[in-house]
Formats: sequence, C-alpha cells, structure tokens
Amino acid sequence: MAMLEVNHLAIQFGGLRAVDGFNVSIEKGQLYGLIGPNGAGKTTIFNLLTGVYKPTEGIIKLDGQDITGKNTIEINRAGIARTFQNIRLFKDMPVLDNVKVGLHNQHSYSTLTGILRLPKYYKVEKEMNEKAMEILKVFDLDKEAYTLAGNLPYGKQRKLEIARALATNPKLLLLDEPAAGMNPNETQELMDTIRFVQEHFDMTTLLIEHDMKLVGGICEEVTVLNFGQVLAQGETSKVLKDPAVVTAYLGE
Ligand SMILES: Nc1ncnc2c1ncn2[C@@H]1O[C@H](COP(=O)(O)OP(=O)(O)OP(=O)(O)O)[C@@H](O)[C@H]1O
Ligand SMILES: [Mg+2]
Repeated sequence: MAMLEVNHLAIQFGGLRAVDGFNVSIEKGQLYGLIGPNGAGKTTIFNLLTGVYKPTEGIIKLDGQDITGKNTIEINRAGIARTFQNIRLFKDMPVLDNVKVGLHNQHSYSTLTGILRLPKYYKVEKEMNEKAMEILKVFDLDKEAYTLAGNLPYGKQRKLEIARALATNPKLLLLDEPAAGMNPNETQELMDTIRFVQEHFDMTTLLIEHDMKLVGGICEEVTVLNFGQVLAQGETSKVLKDPAVVTAYLGE
C-alpha cells in the first residue's frame, strides 16, 4: 500500500484553478520530487496535503487513511509534517526548544504536573531533551543547541526547520524548496542530510524543488507540474528528458 495516494486533487481560487487533477502515489521509504516553474502550484499542493486549504475536488490518503478535508492539527497527528518555503522558526527561542515544540505531540504532561513540577515533569523534560539532542546531532546542530534560532546562519536555519518537522515523528515529510537561498556547498550538505534522514528514520519524503538537476540527483521518481497540471510523471531520468518538460523550463 502507498504511503501517500492522491486522486484528482483540485482547488479553485476564483477564476484560477491553481491545482487541477493532481494524482500521485508515493511508496513508503521513497524520496519523491515535485518540480515546476514559479506559480506552478507546488506549494498549493502542500497546503492541500496539510489541511491549510480544503480541496475543491479529490481524495488524499495517508497510509490507507482518508485525510481529505481534515484540519492542520488532525493531519499532523495523522503523520504529515512539513517545512515552509519561507523559514518559520521561533527565532527568539534556542535551537533545542524549537525542536522540542515538535516533540510535544508525543511527550506530554498535564498542566498541573507542569505547574507543580511533579516528578513526571522532570522525566518527560529529560526524555524530550535527549530526543531533541539526538535529532540535532543528525543535522550537526547539537553544538548550537542553546543558540537562539534567529542567530543561526541561514543554511542552518533551513536545517533546523527540517529537524523540527522530524521531531513530530511523521510518516511523511514535506519539504518546500529546502535548498532555496543556499550556496552550492550548503545545498550539497543538505542533500546528503536528506538522504541520511531517509535511511536513518525510514522516512517517506516529498521534496519540492526548482532546480531540476538537484531533484535528478536524489529522487528516483518525480512529478513535473505546470499551470496546476501534471506535465510529466515517473522515473526522473526519463521525465527530465521529456521534450514537454524541457520546453516548460526554457527561459528559466
Ligand atoms: N490563497 C490563494 N489565493 C489565490 N491564489 C493563490 C492562493 N495561493 C496560491 N495562489 C495562486 O496559485 C498559483 C500557484 O501558486 P503556488 O504558490 O502553489 O506556486 P509554486 O509552484 O509553489 O510557485 P513558487 O515556485 O514560486 O513557489 C499562483 O498563481 C498563485 O498566485
Ligand atoms: Mg512555492
């Protein structure tokens, strides 16, 4: 059974059909690419998958469960986590605490336990600190655990966003142009980290990218979107040679 199964997904904003009949099937453990020019509808698909927008049409299934029309919180609980095209961190909070925010949906204590600092509070806090540090190590951010997120260099803030998303222990991770604004070295390092995450956390990932070469380097399968519609879909090496795809990218 596919981890993500999307059928005939569509959304209409006034006269604009920003996503029009989108289908995809992503197997567990796959690193799948979603590419397309500016305004193609990529981020809108993420907003539909995470409940930010309700689809006009279509069905979304996560690991066999129909999650169509659920809200953002329900969808996160069901197992989808995402990063945003524009970084959304708690910049005035330490790096470690940014990751702990993600852990709160699994480790919790009652408000009373928190206020009275009952033994369970210390136990849960210790567990969360350990788990957060473990995730930060994967991203080579453990030495900056007590740095304010806003003081990290840009490339590391991007990595921290992924770390926070992973902390919710998702079944499916959605990354919206995670390499945007990075220099080539940072991009290469990020791609290595994404590959590592795939294996280490047994993750299923849908990766939005602008850069065809970048997607070609790490995703076996890809969907190319243009004007809200699927232009090509399938094995990356074949899709990227498709004349329709090459034409859509001319002038980029
Ligand atoms: N809430 C909204 N209301 C109206 N139109 C919207 C809304 N959200 C997105 N759109 C439009 O839908 C289209 C697709 O936008 P989207 O942000 O999904 O593109 P994208 O593929 O992510 O582009 P980019 O590569 O620039 O990030 C655009 O024409 C955009 O203006
Ligand atoms: Mg976008």
